[in-house]
Amino acid sequence: MSSYSLYTKAKSLFPGGVNSPVRYYPPSPKFMAEGTGSRLRDEDGQEYIDYCLAFGPMILGHSRKEVVDAIREQAGKATSLGTPGKLEIELGERIKSAIPSIEMLRFTNSGTESTMHAIRLARFFTGRSLILKIEGGFHGSHDYALESVPVSELKDASSRATIEIPYNDPDALHEAFRKFGKNIAAFILEPVLGNVGVVNPSPGYLKEARKITEEYGALLIFDEVITGFRSSYGAYQDIAGVRPDLTTLGKIVGGGLPVGVFGGREDIMKNVSPSGKFYQQGTFSGNALSMAAGISALDVLKQSDYRVPESNASRIAEEARMAFGKSGTDVRANVSGTMFTIFFNRNEVVDSRTAGASDRQLFSRYFNGLLENGIFIAASQMEASFLSFAHSNEDVGKTVEVIRAIAEKITD
Ligand SMILES: Cc1ncc(COP(=O)(O)O)c(C=O)c1O
Repeated sequence: MSSYSLYTKAKSLFPGGVNSPVRYYPPSPKFMAEGTGSRLRDEDGQEYIDYCLAFGPMILGHSRKEVVDAIREQAGKATSLGTPGKLEIELGERIKSAIPSIEMLRFTNSGTESTMHAIRLARFFTGRSLILKIEGGFHGSHDYALESVPVSELKDASSRATIEIPYNDPDALHEAFRKFGKNIAAFILEPVLGNVGVVNPSPGYLKEARKITEEYGALLIFDEVITGFRSSYGAYQDIAGVRPDLTTLGKIVGGGLPVGVFGGREDIMKNVSPSGKFYQQGTFSGNALSMAAGISALDVLKQSDYRVPESNASRIAEEARMAFGKSGTDVRANVSGTMFTIFFNRNEVVDSRTAGASDRQLFSRYFNGLLENGIFIAASQMEASFLSFAHSNEDVGKTVEVIRAIAEKITD
């Protein structure tokens, strides 16, 4: 059945024909059949170089042999036992030794679950009600993270509300704590903003976040669902030199299978049931299949040279910046390690507001131009593109050529 026929069928089953809204793009999303290395193949047999990588997890590329072998082998033994097992320890130890702030952890099945429980735990531990987040920061689809109001609109400091401030704005951070600091249970943020496109922290911002949360007795939660193991074997917090109280992970640590983690200070994590009174559970948490995939992925990553995908990310971003610059198109290229975003924007992109001012029409032409020429990225200006260890020089070269050709035509 063709990709389009599948979409028509899917529309009667799933809202919008998809099982996650970011997968939709007009007029109809490609239904992919297979992924191998850096490539995807759709149901019509068309191949694409993939820079979406399932929204981040597939840093080793699709169907990486070591991971597939580990999944196959484990599937023959058990997929989910619902009992403790040694694979949880093996993956847990790897994560703990790679991310020193994680003294104790718990596995969940998604990033959404991890941030939800980290927020619940912060409220439980501090006895406070408010959560502070970054405008445009995404922590999964639950109300604690989706339903937020600007600091200026908060009516009742004792309510269980989530308030938001712009990223990279130390004054707004200080103001939020000056006004509501005693009621703030936690400040949760992606250390590199990834869900408005890639935006790096300005110098000193994360350290300031650490300082002020400590001063007011609020917990600092780094949501490293995207950044965990993305640009180094560990977390972004170590690149930044900031130790959060809690960290959330997902995506890469499951080796392509569903996973989530929340973890951090032992004195906080010890409150989690059954060692403490904070209740949290999951039927599939720590399931053997996800653990086996995660272990093998981390073992490959530990031996891998991150400088390769990092230099490929920089190369594509720089070439795109030059190509669009040459054609007189307003463009900004933000890079963080192995991820990047090309913003069609005249101004520097430093937060969600500046990202939001990008030209979506130009982005849409860029996206469709890439797709028509066999290159797949996430279908939104407000998303990151990811490099994997499977992308070859040839892939990157072809991508640069296609971008140059789009740049020449985009202002026509
Ligand atoms: C930073 C961040 N946190 C949390 C989540 C939610 O993770 P999941 O989609 O696994 O529920 C995402 C998803 O993209 C994310 O980017």
